[in-house]
Amino acid sequence: MKKALILSVMVIFSLFAVSSAFGAAKCPQPRKTKTAPGGIAKKDMTAKADAANGEAIYMKKAKPMACKMCHGAKGDGGGKLGKALKPAPRNFACAATMKKVSAGQMFYIIKNGSKGTGMVAHGKTLKDEGIWDVVKYIRSTWVK
Ligand code: HEC
Repeated sequence: MKKALILSVMVIFSLFAVSSAFGAAKCPQPRKTKTAPGGIAKKDMTAKADAANGEAIYMKKAKPMACKMCHGAKGDGGGKLGKALKPAPRNFACAATMKKVSAGQMFYIIKNGSKGTGMVAHGKTLKDEGIWDVVKYIRSTWVK
């Protein structure tokens, strides 16, 4: 398990080494991520969440790496590793795509990951409160 993680991080970094162009991801952007099961997609616990803590997680605290490494410091999918990934990381600033992505959907994917994409599960390193914090930060900063 640990080996697989190290290996995938190495693969991502080597892909990064050969990619040269950076910039915002496409908009509208196709989504590989599936819809969260049950009623989770309709849940929204961001009202009392702490966006400042969410920012700290997004910009640097998240493990194995900060969200911004892929999703970008501007939330537009233009992170350093973003261009190397297929599918590309979600562009949170893309209204056309984000109108289909609810707060609960984001919560579920951050917690459990998105199979078949570079989006790893963060449920072992982040508590539910921390995940809602980062959902609030992303939605209040970039999602229009
Ligand atoms: C290694 C690169 C990488 C990192 C690090 C990463 N993501 Fe992702 N993320 C992706 C990719 C790739 C997708 C899938 C895009 C798709 O669905 O086509 C994704 C999808 C998502 C989605 C899914 C939205 C939807 O369409 O349903 C959310 C929300 C998200 N990421 C938030 C985060 C947050 C918050 C963090 C940090 C805790 C993070 N990501 C870290 C690459 C990454």
